[in-house]
Parts: sequence; C-alpha cells; structure tokens
Amino acid sequence: MARSTCKTARAIEAWFAANARDLPWRRDRTPWRALVSELMLQQTQVARVLERFEPFVQRFPTPLALAEATEHDVLQMWQGLGYYRRARNLQKAAIVVVAQYGGAVPVDVESLLTLPGVGRYTAGSIASIVGGHAVPIVDGNVSRLLARLHCDDGAVEDAGFVRRMWARATALVERSAEPSLLNEGMMELGARVCTPSGPACGGCPIRQQCAARQASRQHEIPRPKRRAASQVIHHHAVVIRRRGRWLVEKRPAGGLWGGLWQAPAVECPLELGVEAIVERVPLPIANAVRVDTLTRKLTHRTVHLHVYEGTLCKGARVPADEGLQWVRRGDLGELPLSSAAWAVLDLIDSH
Ligand code: ADE
Repeated sequence: MARSTCKTARAIEAWFAANARDLPWRRDRTPWRALVSELMLQQTQVARVLERFEPFVQRFPTPLALAEATEHDVLQMWQGLGYYRRARNLQKAAIVVVAQYGGAVPVDVESLLTLPGVGRYTAGSIASIVGGHAVPIVDGNVSRLLARLHCDDGAVEDAGFVRRMWARATALVERSAEPSLLNEGMMELGARVCTPSGPACGGCPIRQQCAARQASRQHEIPRPKRRAASQVIHHHAVVIRRRGRWLVEKRPAGGLWGGLWQAPAVECPLELGVEAIVERVPLPIANAVRVDTLTRKLTHRTVHLHVYEGTLCKGARVPADEGLQWVRRGDLGELPLSSAAWAVLDLIDSH
C-alpha cells in the first residue's frame, strides 16, 4: 500500500542520505553486525566503539561463533567498552539466536524483543535499519529532536513525555518513504546537529518545521531533569574584534540572561576543548586562543566562563543576522549585556 509521506520525514531522509558519517557498522549491514553495534553503542560514545567493532565481528563473525566462545574470550574482546553486562547479554542473545532462530538474527520487533539486552529502542533500530520495517525508535537523541520539533517542554523523566515521543516517532515513521533513512537520520541529526546545548539550527534540514526554533525555545527544550544540586554551566565565550569593534550576539529570549548581548558563546554542561568550541560557534573562526576562566555563582547555577580570543577566517563575512552585530568598544555600554559579557569584557580590558 502506498503511504503518504510527509515533508519532515522526507527532509530527514534526504539529509541523512547526503550526510551520514561513514561508520563501520554502516558499511556492511547485516542483522548480526547491527545487533553487535547496537549493544556496543548502548551508553557508549560512537568514538569509543569505532576501533572495537571490526575486531569483535571478525573474531565472532556469526551468532554461532559468539555462542560457542568462552566468557573469557568475549570479555577480552569487549575490553575498553565498559558495562560488561552488555557483553554477557550479547552472548546470551547469540545463544537464543542459535537455539530459537536457526542462527540468523531476526529483524522483526517481536522476535528481537525476546533477545537478552534488546529493548524497544534496539529492536526498533534493527527492525527499521536492517529490516526496513516502519517501526519507531526513541533514544535520547531522537527524543530531544522530537521534543524540539513539537516544542514539547515536558520533563524528560515524565512518563507522559516519553509516551508522546514514542507516539510522535510512530506517526513520523509510518509516513516515511524509507524508515531506515528516517530513523538513522533522526539519530544522526540528534547526535550532530540537534545537540543538547548549542544546537546548530542553521544546518538542520527541518528547521522550518521546528516549533521550538520558531519560539526561540530550542535551548530550553527538552526541559532538563530537576536537579537537587545547583546546575553547572560551562560558558565558552569567543571574543572577536576587528578594527576597534567587538562582535556581539543576542542570547535567546528565555532562560539565563535571556535576550541580553554577549561575545559569541557556546554553553554546555561540560567544558569543551578549543576545537569543539570553534566547531559549534556558528561563525567562520580561524583560530581561538584561551585567555582565562572565571567562575560565577548564581542562585541556582554555577557558571564557568571560559574566555577565548579568536579571529575570523580571512575574507569571511559575518552572517547577516539580527542577533549579531559589530559594536565599538565605547558603545558597548549602550547595549544590555549579560553579566557574563561584562566579566568577559573586564577580563579582556585588563589583559
Ligand atoms: N546507526 C545505527 N544505530 C546507531 C547508533 N546507535 N548510533 C549511531 N549510529 C547508529
């Protein structure tokens, strides 16, 4: 039956087809390789899995090979990946595959859910990406993307919020032309573009449809888990000066220092290295040099201000944007600046 596809799904599919990273488990798609990679990727960064994946599937090329291995051999091949329970689950899953499914990993959700270590997300991922079935997936990355797309400011730990995300993922995949591209595209967008802090909306294929972006609320959605302790923010400011003028940006309307001006900055819960900062600031920065770090204690937050000085790439133009302007040093006092911006300014002046 022909499905009516929707614009959002098509945009994600086309973006993924053109932008997918070349990852080892994407090169040769088999249900076994998909199962191994998904279990390795649970709670673990892609970068860490990169070097471990091929040696593992070469040593255990089939479910049967893993089912027959000693636990010692399995754990040895899992070294460096942590959470060793996943390795034991993978071996148990291989044993079930051999005993119940004739040695071939199934690609339908119902059968996949009978395998140890395989939950709704992992089953959906394998069934859609390898099996081509129109079944949903929701993980942290996808949930953030869907919450922003629908401007849903529910709390991530709330059961109603989780249910809504699965319902949205289902609605989308059922109207997609290529469930495999849609689902993996959502994972990839969540990992690389629709990131927790400092989402790169300029490079997002569904920015036009994104309700959070329309409301300038993408930075506050999804609502972070309620924390007892004060929240820690790493604010990485890049001071860019040209011919006596400072480049300043306007903060999003809501949240901390909402609507105030500051040196272009990237904020996130962890401190970033210079390369990550340059990558995330939506400006063509040629180089950035660290100046110093200041710490500010606010009522509910601790803000670490990491101050960098940077230059724009030669000949680069600053994007025409209402939220970005060059201001003479003497005129900065006329703009509403955030307290971070003042601290940064004072630091550079005294440097
Ligand atoms: N492709 C399929 N599953 C993936 C995952 N969990 N992370 C990144 N890329 C994937």
